[in-house]
Amino acid sequence: MKTAVLISGRGSNLEALIAAAAEEDFPAEIVLVISNKADAKGLEHAKSAGIATAVLNHKEFEDRESFDAAMSEAIEAAGAEFICMAGFMRLLSDGFVKKWRDRLINIHPSLLPAFKGLHVHERTLEAGVRFTGCTVHFVRPAMDEGPIIVQAVVAVLTDDTSDSLAARILEQEHHIFPQALRLIAEGKVRVSAERVLIEGIKAPDQSLINPT
Ligand code: GAR
Repeated sequence: MKTAVLISGRGSNLEALIAAAAEEDFPAEIVLVISNKADAKGLEHAKSAGIATAVLNHKEFEDRESFDAAMSEAIEAAGAEFICMAGFMRLLSDGFVKKWRDRLINIHPSLLPAFKGLHVHERTLEAGVRFTGCTVHFVRPAMDEGPIIVQAVVAVLTDDTSDSLAARILEQEHHIFPQALRLIAEGKVRVSAERVLIEGIKAPDQSLINPT
């Protein structure tokens, strides 16, 4: 399954996807990485893996719709049929989300639907929750919303700072993002009544909880 990855920064999730895709039996191939920021570190990971990159600076577009249309054009020109948002920090237009419905996934560092949006780890600590985690989900027009594919749970420790918590969550992100992409590329994932059903797995199933 030819896949495009959208990034805005560091690109550690992109790195995890690139590493997974390098495995011989991985059913998805990353054919394009798009960043809305020219200095995104993730672009270097893509280049050193020999993956095509494109920078589309959103500030150079008249509106969100024209920026998103340029992304769609680049994605289609690369032959990609699927999109992963890996730390892509821009809201998408309804038109883009509709066009790529159920072919567009995002990773977010919380157990959605809790703690959508920005400053997630600070708000998680402030709320005093005992567990948090990360979520891979299909994208819908509202931010950080959509059918959940895989989640991983991370305990919040008494002496956690937002950095220490973010680091433990990130480790789990790097497991669940490739896992979700693999399940989809294997054709095992279906969305029914806005819930995700995974072939061969009756949720909740242990293999979908903190997979390693
Ligand atoms: C990740 O923690 C990802 O979950 C988060 O941005 C970080 C990107 O890191 N995404 C969101 O908050 C989306 N709402 P990375 O560039 O190293 O993959």
